Amino acid sequence: MSAKKSYELMEKLSSLCKRRGFIFRSSEIYGGINGFWDYGPYGTEMKRALEQLWWDYMVKNRNNVDGLDSTVICHPMVWKASGHLDKFGDMMIDCKDCKARHRQDQMEDDTVCPNCGSTNLTEPREFNLMMKTFVGPVFDEKHTAYLRAETCQPIFADFHHVRIATRQKLPFGIAQIGKAFRNEINPRNYTFRSREFTQMEMEFFCKSEDSMEWYEYWKAERINYYKEFLGFTDDVMRIHPHGEGELAHYAKAALDIEFKFPFGWGELEGVHHRGNWDLSRHQEFSGENMEYFDQENNTKYIPTCIETSVGADRTLLAVLCNSYDEDTAETKKEGKQQAARVVLRLPKVIAPVQVAVLPLSKKLGEQAEKLYVDIRKRFRSEFDITGSIGKRYRRQDEIGTPFCVTYDYETIDDNAVTVRDRDSMTQDRVSIEQLTTYLDKKING
Ligand code: GAP
Repeated sequence: MSAKKSYELMEKLSSLCKRRGFIFRSSEIYGGINGFWDYGPYGTEMKRALEQLWWDYMVKNRNNVDGLDSTVICHPMVWKASGHLDKFGDMMIDCKDCKARHRQDQMEDDTVCPNCGSTNLTEPREFNLMMKTFVGPVFDEKHTAYLRAETCQPIFADFHHVRIATRQKLPFGIAQIGKAFRNEINPRNYTFRSREFTQMEMEFFCKSEDSMEWYEYWKAERINYYKEFLGFTDDVMRIHPHGEGELAHYAKAALDIEFKFPFGWGELEGVHHRGNWDLSRHQEFSGENMEYFDQENNTKYIPTCIETSVGADRTLLAVLCNSYDEDTAETKKEGKQQAARVVLRLPKVIAPVQVAVLPLSKKLGEQAEKLYVDIRKRFRSEFDITGSIGKRYRRQDEIGTPFCVTYDYETIDDNAVTVRDRDSMTQDRVSIEQLTTYLDKKING
């Protein structure tokens, strides 16, 4: 996609997301704050549904993965042990003339400022991405703490607590969904690179000799998840295995699952073989024994870990990009048969509104609302009585509602409603008695 087209598409998408209540700039009334985003009513529903989908797939529907909900602020030694305090950052170069700060690896020529062309630059300096705060009333070095930069470290710190509480034996996993914070130098591409974001991570502990098998297993599971539930096809998703130079010194293997965003291919998720690095480091820094006692073989060792790590915000952005479409639909506008429509072809399981109930006339409102109250027990639903039916359909198309249920005058006689499919725009007459079964099959398969 050309740079112009990509820019136009991102502009259209971000404007739709703002207008329809998916994503807003945080504190926009004060000019916004770079790298921070709020989810509006539809964005919130969609993000929650996405997190639930991930949780069901990774935790609820498996008996060898358990959940954790840890704090955002941990003991600072967690970040010393993980290496984040000493080495988690980018090499930065400042322009002494225009004062712009640049990431060295993103500069075409690291002797020339890309902003003003000056060569009056500082030496490259390391810039740590951890966000600092203070715990307690004294603001000094001793009371400094950090907002977590990844959700997985508390999983390692709590490894034994979870293992003992759940009586899990190797191999087993611990998963967490939660906020992470990074003082990114260049937040960009809408929510793609933010300073506050939600991660969904799973750390799977196993024997070293089985670890490559588990690595392949989780790689396949994660690819399957994107294809089956989010509808990502091979032309928008690819695997980037890390080469020798990209691998961490302790890792046997790692890969990125990449998505084709309008602005180019970008990392969506990482599947990492972390060796026993994290648990070993926490053992070294805490003095606590992180070994696992293998009763079968009467041996003790520090388990090896396979990680799957993805951003919820980045997945949501990928889904929005993949779903945005423009086509034509019938219209009753004077002198026209067809009109352009914008439609979000969102996967049905995470659409913020799965079913909209639309009475054809205000006079039918009361009966239609009763139907809506019944439907919303099973599906994320909305009741809309305002405006022409055509305009209501357009609005539901723009928020990605897969099914619109129209309650009309015939409903009173035949106890049936018309169900309009967002994608095919076909309409089925369905009896109210059969409606839930019909929708359930269509939405949940
Ligand atoms: N525990 C491993 C870890 O955190 P990472 O590659 O730094 O690995 C994992 O991050 C995932 O978290 C990324 O693939 C991406 O989906 C998401 N992520 C990372 N930084 C992000 C940011 N600044 N904004 C939004 N999502 C981000």
